[in-house]
Amino acid sequence: MNEHVINAKPTPGLSFDTGRTASGSPLIDPRLFDSAEFRKDPYPYYRILRDHYPVYWDKLHNRYLITRYKDVTDAYLDDDAYNTITKGSSNLVNGNTFLELGGREHARRRKIFGNHLTGKHLEARLPAIRRLALSMLTAAMGPTAEKMLNKDVHYGKVFNLGADFADEFPICVIGEVLGFPDDAKKHFYYWYYTIQQGLKGGEEAKRAMAARKELEDYVCTLIVQRREAPTFLYDEDDQIVGNDVISQLVHAKINGVLLSTPEIISMISVLVTGGGDTTRGAILHMWRLLLEHPEQFAAIQDDPELFNSAFHETMRHSSPVGGMSRSTNHEITLHGTTIPKGAWVELVNFSANHDESIFPDPDSFNIFRPELYVGREVQRGFRVNEKYSHVGFGAGSHFCPGAWIAHQETVIASQVILSRFKNPQLLRNSMTLNSEGELEPMYVDRLSEMRELWISYD
Ligand code: HEM
Repeated sequence: MNEHVINAKPTPGLSFDTGRTASGSPLIDPRLFDSAEFRKDPYPYYRILRDHYPVYWDKLHNRYLITRYKDVTDAYLDDDAYNTITKGSSNLVNGNTFLELGGREHARRRKIFGNHLTGKHLEARLPAIRRLALSMLTAAMGPTAEKMLNKDVHYGKVFNLGADFADEFPICVIGEVLGFPDDAKKHFYYWYYTIQQGLKGGEEAKRAMAARKELEDYVCTLIVQRREAPTFLYDEDDQIVGNDVISQLVHAKINGVLLSTPEIISMISVLVTGGGDTTRGAILHMWRLLLEHPEQFAAIQDDPELFNSAFHETMRHSSPVGGMSRSTNHEITLHGTTIPKGAWVELVNFSANHDESIFPDPDSFNIFRPELYVGREVQRGFRVNEKYSHVGFGAGSHFCPGAWIAHQETVIASQVILSRFKNPQLLRNSMTLNSEGELEPMYVDRLSEMRELWISYD
């Protein structure tokens, strides 16, 4: 891994400039992190942090930000030094989840459903995911195909990839893998959306708890049914692939004891909330970036397998998840800064993914980056065959168990979209623009907020 090289050039155009130290380092005022300027484009500021304050104590929010690729990746893999107790903030809505656990207890719970989201179980389900994408897209294209946004201008056919497809597609995929019956699927998106909104807290948390209660009641009924009669997932040839996730959870034992109903419900709730907004973000970010880079999109049209590289580069350039929080198990000293035991630490994925010591010219989107690892997602390690992986899925014991399914869903859905839309173009003027006439940023703070992507096609 390269040594971190500090940028020789001063960072241009920063509007949140709070002066410099006597030695010339830019000063950072932590109010910056709540500013519209930062939310619009955090990357120049992360560059300052990487260069001058690789472990930054944000005294306003009482947290430490770790921003260099090497330090972030080391931390993800270091379970002795860091734990995930900070993630307990999701308890209010999701209940006690395995997200906050560590060690053997955490690993046992993850293992129960993990095989459904990777490997041969998932391979066998890919045709069903492709069929789902095709049928959802076809249904959505019908009513919107003739929609005109502005009667004076002929846009041809238009489609909002967000509301018309990517909002619901990842949720339907999860419902499918979990084994929700068809009659529940129509409620499923409402439950998901309301619970997800509630994670932000406030009034929305109350509505989320009501939605979670409905989901809970429904799942309780399913648990009783599936304990008596487990149900199965089938492959293309109608061969049983294995139990669906719910049937697997209701028969799973930990230390010889069946999981309790609240445990099963919280696992389902975590799977439902973990894979929706995130995968929608990946689909929308990737399509926006590709349509903004027509020469790379042309290469993909010639070879749709390149969507795999585009997925990795999207996760690096514009990951839908900005970072992950941790708490320290003991005092840690890094780059001369001592982080006390029990401190809140942010591992800033956005910044690590734009570390120029690893990814030269990091703000450019380039699906042909020679240094970027673009194979199947790996749970351990970031350096594979002399290439570097993005950090968008974290790593180590809490590495996203949905990484491979999210990758597959995004690529499959994109190949289906490409096969249905001739000459797709970004309809900039139909999207929310800021006062400078630019497209709104794809992310706000830590999670993608991008919800619409208008496309015209012939
Ligand atoms: C592009 C889409 C996705 C992104 C960017 C993403 C991102 C992440 C990240 C960064 C973590 C690591 C958490 C940590 O280290 O503390 C994580 C964990 C997790 N993800 Fe994903 N995720 C995505 C899709 C999915 C999908 C599709 C599912 C479910 C089917 C899922 C379920 C989970 C769960 C259950 C965890 C917790 C794992 C644990 O704590 O052991 N994610 N995700």
